[in-house]
Amino acid sequence: MSATIIDGKAFAANVRAKVAEHVTRLKDDHGIKPGLAVVLVGEDPASQVYVRSKGKQTTEVGMNSYEHKLNADTSEADLLALIARLNADPEVHGILVQLPLPGHLNEDLVINAIDPAKDVDGFHISNVGLLGTGQKSMVPCTPLGCLMMLRDHHGSLSGLNAVVVGRSNIVGKPMAQLLLGDSCTVTIAHSRTKDLPEVVRGADIVVAAVGRPEMVPGDWIKPGATVIDVGINRIDAPEKGDGKTRLVGDVHFESCAEVAGAITPVPGGVGPMTIACLLANTVTACCRANGLPEPQGLTA
Ligand code: GUN
Repeated sequence: MSATIIDGKAFAANVRAKVAEHVTRLKDDHGIKPGLAVVLVGEDPASQVYVRSKGKQTTEVGMNSYEHKLNADTSEADLLALIARLNADPEVHGILVQLPLPGHLNEDLVINAIDPAKDVDGFHISNVGLLGTGQKSMVPCTPLGCLMMLRDHHGSLSGLNAVVVGRSNIVGKPMAQLLLGDSCTVTIAHSRTKDLPEVVRGADIVVAAVGRPEMVPGDWIKPGATVIDVGINRIDAPEKGDGKTRLVGDVHFESCAEVAGAITPVPGGVGPMTIACLLANTVTACCRANGLPEPQGLTA
């Protein structure tokens, strides 16, 4: 293996420390305590794990955490009423509605009901438009985490060829916008892309966000390229024993690490950065709401 391993766990701990430092300053100098409200509708087990983890990390950096757990059959009107209350609450600086929502709820309608200034996920249509036009916005957490690691590794990204594999609203599209904002030449590839291996071979930076286990093999990677693996897939691992599983990314780690210059592992790469960036966005939103300077290095 020749690639440098980009340690997302350590990077995330560093981001959290910077957030905690800023939270202390907000309290000491201004008497302000940032608050994050997380709304979970239903009992999806993976979502429950994420929400618990978000709450724990929010209080660990010294912020207030407000959890709202609603029944799976909650009506759209009740959910919108809760969002209106959170929008109006001056103690709440960030609002996150955990996705996916149960099928009877219109996700676009719900997300667009959040005050864009409190939309720490960066999913509101206003924030999507602001990001797309290079204006100050709330930036989706996972792509923001990827950008921070890429900037740290490369310094300037200017002029590099970046291929984003995956075109989701949560990762692929905002990731492409951020890379474009840092003057990369950006290609968004997806399931219909012709000759995907050849497209990926042209990349100095590959961001894989497709949700398909180990889809990108080492022979698609240009020697020395940086590989950011957003995928978190649980697959069977019979070699570990009956019924055992393990986590893998969207890239085939061993073969890609042979060729890449740098690579994020799974677990311990992009994953830990997502919640760290959520905390960073909450502090940023709190500073903006109070007309105070934003923390440096924690935004796009
Ligand atoms: N579900 C999976 N990822 C996310 C995320 O980044 N934000 C929200 N709100 N829900 C998610």
